[in-house]
Amino acid sequence: MFDNRVTRMLGVDIPIVQAPMGWIARSQLASAVSNAGAMGIIETSSGELDVIREEIRKMRDLTDKPWGVNIAQAFVRDPSIVEFVAGQGVKFVTTSAGSPTKYTASLKEAGLTVFHVVPNLVGALKAVDAGVDGLIVEGGEGGGFKSPRPVASMVLLPLVVSKVDVPVIAAGGFVDGPTMAAALALGAEGVQLGTRMVSSAESPIHDNWKQAVVDATETDTVFLNQHTSPALRALRTDRTNALEFDHESNAMTLFGTAMDLYFGGDMEASLALGGQVVGRIDAVLPVRDVIDSTMTEFRGCVRELGAYG
Ligand SMILES: Cc1cc2nc3c(=O)[nH]c(=O)nc-3n(C[C@H](O)[C@H](O)[C@H](O)COP(=O)(O)O)c2cc1C
Repeated sequence: MFDNRVTRMLGVDIPIVQAPMGWIARSQLASAVSNAGAMGIIETSSGELDVIREEIRKMRDLTDKPWGVNIAQAFVRDPSIVEFVAGQGVKFVTTSAGSPTKYTASLKEAGLTVFHVVPNLVGALKAVDAGVDGLIVEGGEGGGFKSPRPVASMVLLPLVVSKVDVPVIAAGGFVDGPTMAAALALGAEGVQLGTRMVSSAESPIHDNWKQAVVDATETDTVFLNQHTSPALRALRTDRTNALEFDHESNAMTLFGTAMDLYFGGDMEASLALGGQVVGRIDAVLPVRDVIDSTMTEFRGCVRELGAYG
């Protein structure tokens, strides 16, 4: 269907990667993505490795397509995480929220293909030096944990691509066919979708969160914790709105009550991580519809742009 370094290295038909997301990127969502021809990812950032082991077992029943695992280094401090991931029989791993020198060599020794998530050029060069197979280049408009000095994908992506030889997957702001075409025009060979996937039908989060994404405009996210660590982008609610220009509190304390939001639907209980693309999402759709329509729109865009050539 699609032939580039990302589809070849990941063994997928479509160069779309579902973002890892704590408690969310589990078998129900990841298997739907893999079965649609893209790359489903299982999270470990929840730190619940016993539950993850069971989710991985379920993946083997739910799909015979490739899928991968994310190690969000700041959140999963278990020293046996490399053995844990390597022992699950997956071939693709993304590493994020930490130094690429920490796990790259041992993951590659275990036979895994490693892509590291980077928010800037310095990080990208360091990851390439550490021997990663590819990069996930994440712009500051995306949802989730962020560098405190965010750079938009439009600037970051062509910059990194011009300085590295490894394949790049673009993350942050990608949501449909036109944005995927833009990513490839800027030199990426795939896209990672976070906010689009958290609001899909197969995402396990409470419907209130999905509806909040549908209702949100492009200005309805807040960038928090820029004064401390980690910075993050989340949906605007009364609670997060009050924190937007608060340079003393640490928004991370709200994660203590994350389950009340994630599965209880109380939008004020915690942080609903999400990117500026909330303003471009107007329906909760099954994963297959998201991926099929993205590819149809992508091809339409490429054809139309070809007319200028
Ligand atoms: C709810 C949520 C949770 C996330 N958790 C993680 C995570 O555990 N590990 C990680 O590497 N990235 C995480 N991210 C960031 C995503 O991987 C992705 O790069 C980002 O969402 C892309 O931008 P987008 O939201 O515009 O699609 C998360 C994002 C969201 C929205």
